[in-house]
Amino acid sequence: MPGHILPHAGKNGMRIDYAETGKTIAALTDGERDEVALMATVACELHHADDRFDWTGFYRVTDPETLRIGPYQGTHGCLVIPFGKGVCGTAARDGRTQIVPDVAEFPGHIACAASTRSEIVVPVRNRAGQLIGVLDIDSNLPDAFDNTDAAGLAAILARVFAA
Ligand code: SME
Repeated sequence: MPGHILPHAGKNGMRIDYAETGKTIAALTDGERDEVALMATVACELHHADDRFDWTGFYRVTDPETLRIGPYQGTHGCLVIPFGKGVCGTAARDGRTQIVPDVAEFPGHIACAASTRSEIVVPVRNRAGQLIGVLDIDSNLPDAFDNTDAAGLAAILARVFAA
């Protein structure tokens, strides 16, 4: 529609302020110990804080070497991911954050949404240092994530699940 002013001008511009979002999450989760309640709150707050985030959620370690879908925001995620499979399974197996600029180039990437172009997966540990899951954020933009995201997300996860 020529000349029409789009009401959502500025979309794809909002960027997360990790320090601010971390404070909000800390205030919301103060005193809460239930991991699912914590994951639900973190997924919600992160998802709505950044226009790059098209799927934001957790996979939990529920059985040995097995990730199972946890709280998330976005379209449906696959339910079970064995350690070592896809980006999430690789992060869980190695205990290391994965930044994937182009999912088409990642061997064994599990495509839950065809629109996903890049992703970041960060291991989640509890107070005892045990791996309890991974945080997975997928973007429809290529090369959406960098080390600032890795550090910002890791700091929030440590504060919520391991402090
Ligand atoms: N990105 C994941 C699969 C999970 S969904 O995209 C929600 C992976 O390859 O590990």
